[in-house]
Order: sequence, then structure tokens, then C-alpha cells
Amino acid sequence: MSTAVPMDASRPITTTTLGAMKQSGRPIVMVTAYDAPSARLVDAAGVDAILVGDSLGMTVLGFSSTLPVTLDDMVRHTAAVVRGARRALVVADMPFLTFQVTAEEALRNAGRLIAEGGAAAVKVEGGASIAHTVRRLVESGIPVMGHVGLTPQSVNVLGGYKVQAKESPAALQLLEDCRELEDAGAFAVVLECIPAELAALVSRELGIPTIGIGAGVGCDGQVQVFHDLLGLGGDFTPRHAKRYAEIGEAIRDAVEAYADDVRDRAFPGDAQSTRMDPESLAVVEQQSKRRLRKIAGGEPRP
Ligand code: KIV
Repeated sequence: MSTAVPMDASRPITTTTLGAMKQSGRPIVMVTAYDAPSARLVDAAGVDAILVGDSLGMTVLGFSSTLPVTLDDMVRHTAAVVRGARRALVVADMPFLTFQVTAEEALRNAGRLIAEGGAAAVKVEGGASIAHTVRRLVESGIPVMGHVGLTPQSVNVLGGYKVQAKESPAALQLLEDCRELEDAGAFAVVLECIPAELAALVSRELGIPTIGIGAGVGCDGQVQVFHDLLGLGGDFTPRHAKRYAEIGEAIRDAVEAYADDVRDRAFPGDAQSTRMDPESLAVVEQQSKRRLRKIAGGEPRP
């Protein structure tokens, strides 16, 4: 259990809260969720922010990348998460090609995540090249979280899911990307799969919070994928993730036990069944018997 001074648990978390947390040195806890029940659980666990990540393409929809995720997918899942969350800040990912084409299109699409999905903010992948879009969204009233380093929507350009910015030119570019995102009005930035020293340096330089995933302990907060934390993603666990539970195994064991009970006629038991009152039952039984006798006697079915 954390020994840090607890925050006011009755107040909803806002983008301003996250900025204040950075100032006070209190680490920000973020986790993904994709539906109402998981949002309810992580919110009850006291996380500060929930990311409706486009990782739902892999974790929930069964694709091998985030690229096929649509805006409609994100709106639907964001709305479900918002229904489950009470206090945490809900941030919705903008999927591939919903913000890269023009700033105007990005604004319309981000608007759907806010107005229809109910998200409090959106997240976009990219640095300096999308700073003008970030500015347009923020000026229109939409809080934006940036995302640099390993940006999964660019997996085909990056040549795989690899650690980024290990050499100084790429590290300097990443630092510049973060500065431009901050200048454009982003309220926070995700640093994914970059060296820990670089992430710590960026976190010291920026005025806005950094949220790391595979970026070491020097970030202002951490984000993890729900399925990675809980052992719901099969045998594979990314190097940056730690399994805190084996829920996948627990689910398989439970469903096997259910299947055994059905096959043994041990389920449903009395506790899961409803009984008829004896008089009503007698009427139905009598009528059924008469009918069966008629059929046995060769009379045509009525
Ligand atoms: O989609 C996602 O879950 C993300 C996190 C990995 C940061 O972008």
C-alpha cells in the first residue's frame, strides 16, 4: 500500500489535477480499460487516469496491431468506460488516420470522442509534426495528451515494436518533440519504450507530466495495459510489463469447473433454480399426461 498522502478521494480527477501531482511529486497512476466493468474495477482501485487505448485492437478485438481500430470502435468503447468510471480522468486514443490528415478533420473526430464518448481528453501519437493539430484541438477546448517514443501506429515505419531514441540524434529529436507538444498546449505526454535516463531528463525539463510505459521510474507517472497487468494476454508479457495477477488462469479454471458441473448435472443446483407451486404444477402435469396418452393411443396431435 502507498504511504503517500492520499488525495481527496471524492473529487474527480482533471487534467489540472495531473499537473498539480507533477508539481507535488506524487506519481500519476494510469491504466487502460476498454469496457464498463474493467473501468469500474480500476476506478475503484483508485487509479488517477484511465486510457481507452487503441491497444483495444489487440487486447479486445483480436487484431495484430492498432491500425485497424476505427473511430466508431473508440467512441463505443470510450462511452462504456465512461459509464464505468466515477472519479478517474478518462482519456481516449485517437486511432490511426483520424488526426494525421488535417487539423480540421482531427477536430471533428476528437469532438466525437468528447461529445459522444464522454472522454475528458484525447491522446495523439506524434511529436513536432502534429503540434499544429494539438494546438487546434486545445484552442477548441479539447485537452490533448501527447505520445512519443514507440508510437504503435507507426509500427511499419519503425520496423517493429522496438525501444526508440537510444542514440543522441533521435533522443534530441524526442526532446524537441516533447517541447513542441508542451508549447502547443498538451497537458501531458506518454513516453513509450525509451531509455530510462532520457525519460527522466525529459520529465525534469517539461512543465507538463510525463507518463511512462517502458521508460523507467523517472517519469511523473506510469501507464500499463490492463491485460498485461492481469495476465489476460495469453503467454506473452511485454518486457516493460509486470503481471500483478493471473486472472487469465483464474478464468480458465473457473470455466472448466462450470463445464464439469454442467456435464455432471451438478449445475444448476437448487440455489440457481426456481420452483413452481404444487397446484399449478399438478394442472400442467395432468394435461401433459393426457396428451402423451393420446399420442401413445395413435390419436393425431391436436
Ligand atoms: O493504446 C494504448 O494502450 C497506449 C498505451 C500503451 C500508452 O497507447
